[in-house]
Amino acid sequence: MGIKKIIVTGAQPTGGFHLGNYLGAVKNWCLLQEDFECFFFIPNLHAITCLSYSPKELRRNTIQMLAQFMACGLDPQKSHMFIQSSIRGHTELAWILSCLTPVGQLFRMTQFKAKSEQKDFVGGGLLYYPILMAADILLYNAHLVPVGEDQKQHVELARDLAIKFNQTYAETFDVPEPYILKAGARVYSLQEPTKKMSKSDPNRKGTIFIFEPIDDIRKKIRSAVTDSGTGITFSKNKPGIANLMDILAALTGLTVEAIEAEYGTYSYSAFKNCVAEAVIEHVKPLQERYLKLLKNKEYLDSVLEESKKVVQTHASRTMSKVYRKVGLF
Ligand code: AMP
Ligand code: TRP
Repeated sequence: MGIKKIIVTGAQPTGGFHLGNYLGAVKNWCLLQEDFECFFFIPNLHAITCLSYSPKELRRNTIQMLAQFMACGLDPQKSHMFIQSSIRGHTELAWILSCLTPVGQLFRMTQFKAKSEQKDFVGGGLLYYPILMAADILLYNAHLVPVGEDQKQHVELARDLAIKFNQTYAETFDVPEPYILKAGARVYSLQEPTKKMSKSDPNRKGTIFIFEPIDDIRKKIRSAVTDSGTGITFSKNKPGIANLMDILAALTGLTVEAIEAEYGTYSYSAFKNCVAEAVIEHVKPLQERYLKLLKNKEYLDSVLEESKKVVQTHASRTMSKVYRKVGLF
C-alpha cells in the first residue's frame, strides 16, 4: 500500500445515500480503491455543528452509514473505513491549523454564509468546520480528495493550510488536490429536473434513496415529472426525460445514443417503467447486502476495530511530527 497515492474522503451520517451520491460519487470511490490507498470515513464531528441533532440518531446513522459504504462496494480489505471521532488527531490538528487560518477566510466561505443565514444559532463549530475538514485531509497526507463542487472551496483551504504550515514550520504536508468528477454523472430531481437531486430536497418524491423500499423507488420513478411531448430523445427541452436517460446510461453503461435507438419509440410511461426496473435491479443486491450487514453488528464492529488500529498509526505518526515541528510536547 505504501507507494500508492492517498485518497481521503468522507460522507456525513445524515439521510443516507441517494441515487445522485451513488452514481456521482460512491460508485467511483469503489473504482478508486483498486488503485489508491483510500481513507473513507464518516465525519461525525462535522455532524454536530447544529444543536438540533439527536445524539441517539447520530450514533445509529453513523453505523448505518458504515453499512451503506460496504453495501455499495467499499471493501474493508482494500480501504480504510473509520469513524472520525474514534481516531485521535483530527481535532488536535484542527486546533493547530486554526492558529494559521485567517478568520476572514472562514467568514467568506460560501457554505458558512449559506448555512449561518438559515440558522438562529450559529456556533463556532460551523465557522471552524472547514478547518476540521482540512485536518481530516492533511492528517493522512492526502494527494486527492474526491468531493462535490460545493466542497471545493474547503479543499482549497486545506491546500492553503498545507502550504502555510510547511512555510511557517517545516516541509510536512503534501498539498492535496480536489478531485471533482465530471458533470456526466449528475443526477437531477425527479420532480424538478433542472435542480440537482439532493437529500435536503423538501419534496421527497424528487429524491431516490438507495436504501428505501423498492416500491417507493418504483412509484417515484413512475411519477417523475416529464414534459408533454412524446419520444425518448435526449434534449435540453426535455430535462425530465434526459435525466431518466442519464440515469439509465449510468446504470447500464449504454450511451444516450444507444438508449435513443432502443427506446426512441417508447411512450414516456413505458420508458419510466424500464428505468424503474433498471434502478431496482441495480439497488436490490445493495439493499440485501445492507440488511445483512446491519444484522451483523459484531462484524461491523470488527471492521471498525481492525481499521482503527491501522488508521490510528497513520494519524499518530503525522501528529508526532506536527507536535515536534510546532514546538509542543
Ligand atoms: P452531498 O451529500 O450532497 O454532499 O454529496 C456527496 C457526494 O455526492 C459529492 O461528491 C457530490 O458530488 C455527489 N452528489 C451529490 N448530489 C449529486 C447529484 N445530484 N448528482 C451527482 N452527484 C451528486
Ligand atoms: N464536508 C464534507 C461534506 O459535507 C464531508 C467531509 C468532512 C469531507 N471531512 C472531509 C470530505 C474530508 C472530504 C474530505 O460533504
